[in-house]
Amino acid sequence: MSKAGVIVIGSGIAGLMTAHLLADQFHVIILTKHSLTTSNSYLAQGGIAAAIGKDDDWSKHYEDTVTAGYDHHHEKHVEEMVRHAPRIIDSLIKLGVPFDRDLHKQIRLGKEAAHRVRRIAHVHGDGTGAAFIDCLLGQLKNRVEIMENSRVERLLVDDEQVVGVQTNNCKLYADYTVLATGGFGQLYTYTSNSISATGDGVTLAYRAGAKLIDLEFIQFHPTVIIQGGKAIGLASEALRGEGAYLINDEGKAFMNSFPQKDLEARDIVSREIEKQLAAGRKVYLDISLVNHFATRFPQIERICQRNNINTKKGIVEVAPGAHFTNGGVQTDSSARTSLSNLYAVGEVACTKVHGANRLASNSLLEALFFAEKAATDMLNRAVTGNEIGLKWINETGKMDSIKSSLFLIPSIDELRKRMFHAVGIHRESRSLVEFLNWLEVYKNWFMDEEKIDSTQREEANQYLLAYLVTSAALGRKESRGGHHRLDFPETESDWNQKTLQWGLSKNRTKLTTYI
Ligand code: SIN
Repeated sequence: MSKAGVIVIGSGIAGLMTAHLLADQFHVIILTKHSLTTSNSYLAQGGIAAAIGKDDDWSKHYEDTVTAGYDHHHEKHVEEMVRHAPRIIDSLIKLGVPFDRDLHKQIRLGKEAAHRVRRIAHVHGDGTGAAFIDCLLGQLKNRVEIMENSRVERLLVDDEQVVGVQTNNCKLYADYTVLATGGFGQLYTYTSNSISATGDGVTLAYRAGAKLIDLEFIQFHPTVIIQGGKAIGLASEALRGEGAYLINDEGKAFMNSFPQKDLEARDIVSREIEKQLAAGRKVYLDISLVNHFATRFPQIERICQRNNINTKKGIVEVAPGAHFTNGGVQTDSSARTSLSNLYAVGEVACTKVHGANRLASNSLLEALFFAEKAATDMLNRAVTGNEIGLKWINETGKMDSIKSSLFLIPSIDELRKRMFHAVGIHRESRSLVEFLNWLEVYKNWFMDEEKIDSTQREEANQYLLAYLVTSAALGRKESRGGHHRLDFPETESDWNQKTLQWGLSKNRTKLTTYI
């Protein structure tokens, strides 16, 4: 009997784990638009949260998760995920992940914002993501096919089922397609994200007819390192867990008046930094109290060295930057999307385990847990004997050269600046409407796939996503977690558990529903 085929789009942790779990039974191909290691996962400085400490249990992890996320969760998903976290750590150890350990050989646990206890496991200090990826790539050697520099341009849909993808150089058909493309921090001027995080999976899914949810909830990380006005990388929250604290250029430790000081939830810290910046102050992370900074945080030290920042001086300039997209492609408890045979895992998906604001170090956990769910579901699906397997047809650029032409648009930097201004840490009706009106001018182009030249597809997708995120931010008339409205500053009980959902209607205009 022929093996079923799976296309995994993206090479972060969620995609690689899904591929690893399927590789023995399925014919798996991984498509990635840059290199295998260009991903947010590879940059991840934070670790993986799991209730494995003596003073911890899954219910505390659960409570911290829903408190940070403003009770906007799928409670069952959260419970299952945090209950399974210790087992996932064990399975990573079996795969060879060398977690950092203390003198007694116990996994060393760090503390990050909004966790009441130490529960974050790291590898090589701030190199957890890279260590996971390296380990999974080792496991995948010779078991799957890999195509780097392969950009997926659209999902192929036949009779409401996803049957494969069109890439920049071929059509590829398979039984299942898995979106593992990450989030869309690159839509913003300041971001901690990899260059790959442009939201491809979200727009691919939307254009194919899948449902999107919670797009308004963008998490800004308070401490993106700034040099010469540019974001150059992340200063992990783990630094504040080890004694670093925020000061302004007058030396004032402005988080001191908050109950958890510098370890308040990210949305709160980001907004306080914004207030300082708006008042014309600069903001720094004072790292002078962090023991063994360069060896404990080698990745951050390297970022600083590369950019001529001398960490021995004890301060690093920081500002908030887009870090994590809580919303995305709606998925169920098996990581299935609303389209048949299309799965989504990792940041591209919205499983609602993060609610309105993700708890630090829950994202690698979510990626691994739902990768398992997706793989298990595919493995359990009945074998029909009619599997497609994996088939491809080369037809370079044909479709685009016939129907499309270049469209004159402002630069992506312009779009990013406008996103940061209108749909950033603070939002309000006036600037959201202004931005939507600006985007409206380009709508005929970015909404209509047939008009988009393949050289402008990534830009068109970012314009479309900007339009959807802004519409979502305008639609939610309250403040909650990663969505802060100046004109609706309170968290409103009327909005509890209400989710804004987006999808294409038959005539290809957007529709909104509450669920
Ligand atoms: C960090 O290290 O501050 C980021 C961790 C995370 O976002 O989970």
